[in-house]
Amino acid sequence: MLNIIYTMLDRLTRRKTLDQLKANLEEPEHGGKLHRALTGWDLMFLGIGAIIGAGILSSLGTGLAGGFDSNYGITRPAAGPALVISFLITAVACGFTALCYAEMASMIPISGSAYTYAYATMGELLAWIIGWDLLLEYAVSNVAVAISWGGYANDLLKSFGLAIPGWLTIDIRSMLTTTKSFVEAHPGVGFVEKLNWVAQCKAGIASGPTVFNNWDLLNSAPMIGNFPIALNVLPMVVTFFITLLCIVGIRESTKFNNVMVGTKVGLLLMVIAIGIFYVKPENYVPFCPNGFAGIQAGAAIIFFAFIGFDAVSTTAEECRDPGHDLPFGIIGSLVVCTIIYVGVCLVISGMMPYTAYAGISDPVAHAFTSIGMTKVAAIVSIGAVAALAGALLVYQLGQPRIFMVMSRDGLLPPWFSRVSEKYGTPINATMLTGLLVLIPAGFMNIDEVVELCNIGTLFAFIIVCFGVLILRVRHPDYPRRFRVPGVWFCAPAGILFCVWLAYGLPHATWVRFVVWLIAGLICYFFYGFWKSKLNLPNTANVKN
Ligand code: ALA
Repeated sequence: MLNIIYTMLDRLTRRKTLDQLKANLEEPEHGGKLHRALTGWDLMFLGIGAIIGAGILSSLGTGLAGGFDSNYGITRPAAGPALVISFLITAVACGFTALCYAEMASMIPISGSAYTYAYATMGELLAWIIGWDLLLEYAVSNVAVAISWGGYANDLLKSFGLAIPGWLTIDIRSMLTTTKSFVEAHPGVGFVEKLNWVAQCKAGIASGPTVFNNWDLLNSAPMIGNFPIALNVLPMVVTFFITLLCIVGIRESTKFNNVMVGTKVGLLLMVIAIGIFYVKPENYVPFCPNGFAGIQAGAAIIFFAFIGFDAVSTTAEECRDPGHDLPFGIIGSLVVCTIIYVGVCLVISGMMPYTAYAGISDPVAHAFTSIGMTKVAAIVSIGAVAALAGALLVYQLGQPRIFMVMSRDGLLPPWFSRVSEKYGTPINATMLTGLLVLIPAGFMNIDEVVELCNIGTLFAFIIVCFGVLILRVRHPDYPRRFRVPGVWFCAPAGILFCVWLAYGLPHATWVRFVVWLIAGLICYFFYGFWKSKLNLPNTANVKN
């Protein structure tokens, strides 16, 4: 019995050697090689493309003004103008992690990102868990970005007089959100009860607008019995086209990304350059209305705005000089975005009192609309559509490459690592990722998606910071083109910051995260545990 337990533990903690990981790249059985087409600047642009997205364009308003969630009745304390401090704290936290990613990526230039690093440091089980967890970061965050894109695109279409029926622009849970006064009078009303309220409102027994925030949409939606139909079509459409682009090729995709990144950086610089003339110093008072609680809540929200620098590491097999290009791309993109974010935050919070951003999903455009600059606001909306499409692209490129690496290791079926001969891209994994984003984007609510993404990403960041320390102890002399300066301070600081941010997330998010991990473990024990390439008798691996 002890023998069985020992063998099992041995399997779960087996690791790949660093040389073995690199050698894997040369094996012909991997279904074809990726094209090495990317430069350090491409990677930096890719990082900026991933970082700037729904976070700065949508969550900024919630961070400034706090928020009320009519599904749960939770109020987030407002950070007020002190949100700029939340941005700086989060940037420092991400900076420590970015340094760790840069060292890992320069040592192990393989597409799998945190998954690969965990395989080399903490063993197969943890590697699988991280790979599974990264689905939350890449696919789930893309669901949020796609939904946010749909919102801005819908605004633009409306401004051109091309209105889509409202019930085709919203998910069912958002459509059924109830008003603050209703939640206060009827706390804890669940989904099924809400459907009864819909019936009562339709019958004229209750007043629709006093019960539901989106009564107009709800009232115009087709019904199946008491059930209103709602489908968010635009995010599904954009995901479909971005997936096609990812299949066609990485070179074409990064060209598209570079154009999008230029547009969104230009847009945010324009916001700073014009908005600065409309800043009123009195809007900075009170600077910190809810003290540190507000700053912490703000940091937990806008963490989403920083996610993305790590996505650069998934292109490790497609860049020309990974040892130089990966650290350059990872750190460079984080620094550029932090500078831009701080500028945008200072300007937007100075243009209007922070309370004016409550419930506003397009705070950057809204700031200009409210001072009568509607043309600038329209340009901002166009830029937002470009920005979000760029962010969507980067994650749709990243996720299939993680599937591919896990498949090469035998933890997923070989189907996932097939590279198209015609396009040189992982075609099956790309199509699957498209579906995994496209379907939930039509039905899910953006808030729940963002928080789930944050917790998954923080977990991956913690593992990477630990991994760097482990490799420094186990392989102190292994060549590293990039080394984290003061690693014994930076990596633990990165871990502590991530734990602090994760601690600020709601209980429901933790529960969803644990359920997700359990589902992952079940998959592993049904497939990867038996099929892992490290099971092969002649495969050298490292025992802990
Ligand atoms: N950082 C990305 C965004 O804000 C996830 O959309």
